[in-house]
Amino acid sequence: MIEVCIVGELNLDLILYGLPEHLSPDRELLASDMAFTLGSSSGIFAHNLCVLGTKVGFVSKIGSDPLGKMALERLSAVGVDTTHVKQGSTLSTGLTVVLPHTRHRYMLTYPGTMFEMQYSDIDMNYVLAARHLHLSSFFLHRALRPQILNLFRQAKEAGLTTSLDTNDDPEDQWRMGPGGSDLHDLLKYVDVFLPNEREAKKIVGTTDLAQALNRLAELSKVLVVKCGSGSAICRAGDEQWSLAPPRVSFVDDVGAGDTFAAGFMHLYLREGKLEDCLAFANIAAAYSVTKAGGTEAFRDRAELSTFMRQQWSSMGRGIIPWKD
Ligand SMILES: Nc1ncnc2c1ncn2[C@@H]1O[C@H](COP(=O)(O)OP(=O)(O)OP(=O)(O)O)[C@@H](O)[C@H]1O
Ligand SMILES: [Mg+2]
Repeated sequence: MIEVCIVGELNLDLILYGLPEHLSPDRELLASDMAFTLGSSSGIFAHNLCVLGTKVGFVSKIGSDPLGKMALERLSAVGVDTTHVKQGSTLSTGLTVVLPHTRHRYMLTYPGTMFEMQYSDIDMNYVLAARHLHLSSFFLHRALRPQILNLFRQAKEAGLTTSLDTNDDPEDQWRMGPGGSDLHDLLKYVDVFLPNEREAKKIVGTTDLAQALNRLAELSKVLVVKCGSGSAICRAGDEQWSLAPPRVSFVDDVGAGDTFAAGFMHLYLREGKLEDCLAFANIAAAYSVTKAGGTEAFRDRAELSTFMRQQWSSMGRGIIPWKD
């Protein structure tokens, strides 16, 4: 029996470290290191949520190619139910090339099958049998997008809780999609909304974080805004918590936001207090930045558990509300 159903995109990340910030054309530019690993916001969220101990089912579409196979194997290896990942599209599985730099990173994505998945690909009986529905990369689901509101409405009517992480909008439009599905309308059916700081501001159309928080808090039951190495913010009704992640040795922040969302939702689904969800999310996300990509840190449960427990106790928060 799955607890969380994720409807999302599945692709791999190729991360090239140490390339110059200015990419000169016609030159052979050398990376100092690389990682080829599970990518996609939904894929990273699914993997890490499952490693934390939630039973996860994944609904997606991949190509019949080695990239899709590897992504599927990474999810299956940690126990994600991939029986509802469709294979065999004419398109290939997507790929993101990530070029991390000190202050920012380039992310170049070939969407492939993620642009193709549509509502008719989804087994709604499977989705509605879960306790919770999560969707990431709202703007990348080009074919599904006109039906995302319908998907969430059905989930809420069936008694599921829901969460949403928009991630970036490659078209920089933020509100209205080609099918007319409005993100603001969707938020009525979202219990936990988890944008990052930049996304929160873009959605509201402001450069002022306080203004973005105030507006989005009116639209969301629980609003959680991720702020990189700064303090993440959780707002619910009149209450607000703000908490910085622990300092860690940094490799890259690829998938840190997805891992943060996984940490938050894991405790939220166990009726954790929101401030505990925030602290747990910060620790999980900070751990993810200590290794390559979004999931490499989460491939060793024992090391993860040691880190989580040490950090929790060093924050003076008592006993960690988590069984691993
Ligand atoms: N340098 C860092 N040190 C410690 N923790 C970090 C660092 N960077 C990010 N985090 C943790 O990761 C969380 C998510 O970070 P971020 O704001 O980068 O999300 P995001 O942009 O949505 O990430 P993603 O690339 O997954 O979409 C932060 O709230 C924090 O808990
Ligand atoms: Mg993100």
